[in-house]
Amino acid sequence: MPSLNLGLLFSRIRVEEKLLIKEAKRRGHQVRRVDSRELVFDFEDDYDLDVLLERDVSHSRALYILNLFENGDVPTVNSYKTARTCGDKIATTKALQEAGVPTPEVKVAFTQESALAAIEEMGYPVVLKPVTGSWGRLLAKINDRDAAEAVLEHKSQLGSYYHKIFYIQEYVDKPDRDIRAFVVGDETIAAIYRKSGHWITNTARGGEAANCPVTQDIDQICVDAACAVGGGVLAVDLLEGAGGLTVAEVNYTVEFKNSVEPTGVDIPAKIVDYVEKVGEG
Ligand SMILES: Nc1ncnc2c1ncn2[C@@H]1O[C@H](COP(=O)(O)OP(=O)(O)O)[C@@H](O)[C@H]1O
Ligand SMILES: [Mg+2]
Repeated sequence: MPSLNLGLLFSRIRVEEKLLIKEAKRRGHQVRRVDSRELVFDFEDDYDLDVLLERDVSHSRALYILNLFENGDVPTVNSYKTARTCGDKIATTKALQEAGVPTPEVKVAFTQESALAAIEEMGYPVVLKPVTGSWGRLLAKINDRDAAEAVLEHKSQLGSYYHKIFYIQEYVDKPDRDIRAFVVGDETIAAIYRKSGHWITNTARGGEAANCPVTQDIDQICVDAACAVGGGVLAVDLLEGAGGLTVAEVNYTVEFKNSVEPTGVDIPAKIVDYVEKVGEG
């Protein structure tokens, strides 16, 4: 394996980035840190990178920088297309629907009034989600019309423009957990249950991680979901409903620090394997 010039795009070095840097260096690659807060992109510079691994906590910066580097002929993990799709829950749902991947029913509305009509038609409860967001932030489970009216009014009055785009999802009556599965290329390498007494099970919100065996069903739906959004290194959130597994969302800057230990899978090594493949072209 030839040594690669590997760019690591970040704005904070978290546990994940430390593990990735350590693994890449162990394999003899040169790791160049690209801090998105300091970067001034220069169209004249060719940057001399074999591959850029995106690990930025800022979705907006990541998206623009991936686009710039890709157009500057630096291959990226993930691709701009994948990041753009996963970073937007409407685009994700559209991609999953088009590929026939099971996903909860979603309606999208653009005014308070039409959103209320859509919710009433879907029936309670429903979940309102910001189109861009993560860590379970600003999710609202709407149990009745009073709550719907209140949340829609608040979103309309308080939010920036994208809070006025209403992403309304069917509530899936799942057990006290969801499944977070990691896909690298065309393989589901590991999965965890995220168990919680709260309906929002993100580990950032107190969900507890435990190993989830990757069954054939889980592997199939996750690989299909990953492929639908453009492929790469992805984390798929699965809900176990009465009708089987559905994909709630797909994440493109994968957080894995709570998942290595319960699964016993060396997730950073699998990611670096993939980055090497992309870097070698
Ligand atoms: N439609 C739903 N029905 C039931 N639970 C849901 C639904 N959507 C999300 N959840 C719960 O909320 C969590 C966060 O939702 P998700 O769509 O993954 O948003 P985020 O991008 O903030 O992680 C999920 O992991 C799951 O536990
Ligand atoms: Mg999620």
